[in-house]
Amino acid sequence: LTPKDLSGLKLLVSAGPTREYLDPVRFLSNPSSGRMGYALAEAARDRGAEVVLVSGPTCLQDPWGMEVVRVESALEMRAAILERYPHLQAVVMAAAVADYRPAEVHRDKEPKTGEEKTLRLLPNPDILKELGANKGNRVLVGFAMETREGLHRAKEKLLRKNLDLIALNYVGREGVGFGSEENEVVLLSRTGEVEELSRRPKREVAHRILDWVKLFWKEYGH
Ligand code: C5P
Repeated sequence: LTPKDLSGLKLLVSAGPTREYLDPVRFLSNPSSGRMGYALAEAARDRGAEVVLVSGPTCLQDPWGMEVVRVESALEMRAAILERYPHLQAVVMAAAVADYRPAEVHRDKEPKTGEEKTLRLLPNPDILKELGANKGNRVLVGFAMETREGLHRAKEKLLRKNLDLIALNYVGREGVGFGSEENEVVLLSRTGEVEELSRRPKREVAHRILDWVKLFWKEYGH
């Protein structure tokens, strides 16, 4: 039986990839399955939190007992999150938001010409950084996926985005991270603590992250 130790917490979790369309049938994206975010949302629901799950396209079913908002692009995800932000006490950004989107989106399918093509990209807004700039007494958690210099980069992101906690994933390790059922992460807190979580099911990783959310949530006096 899970204790309802997060009852009263209004939490938004983002999950999955975003799709950045070039035309009606083509997009830029990444291999995020959404599993880490869904595990977080479900674990928080089980602990009594009021959960909103903002999800990019995934093949996972909508979890019961929460508001599920389906979006595609980074701009749609941003709008869905900012609209709800005033009423939230915590946000966990587990989504793999695309850093860029095509500068032009064609209304019709682009014909194949056989010629070389150049794609112009515009930077997407950093949603989490915007949330951090207007943090108030909310708890903010981010993820960092790195192939190298992980701890250093994650710490830099924690500070730059004004987060309470960042979960560092090393991409490219067998059986963990993108698409898999398990994850191996290092948690870094704004208070300088480092917690290494050895490989384990994403649901267990989720519960540890939520323990940290609870700590800051209580500290911020909600
Ligand atoms: O800077 P980087 O993309 O590595 O940061 C990752 C964290 O920031 C993740 O929590 C991700 O959800 C969030 N992010 C965001 N908006 C973006 C890019 C990343 O909120 N445009």
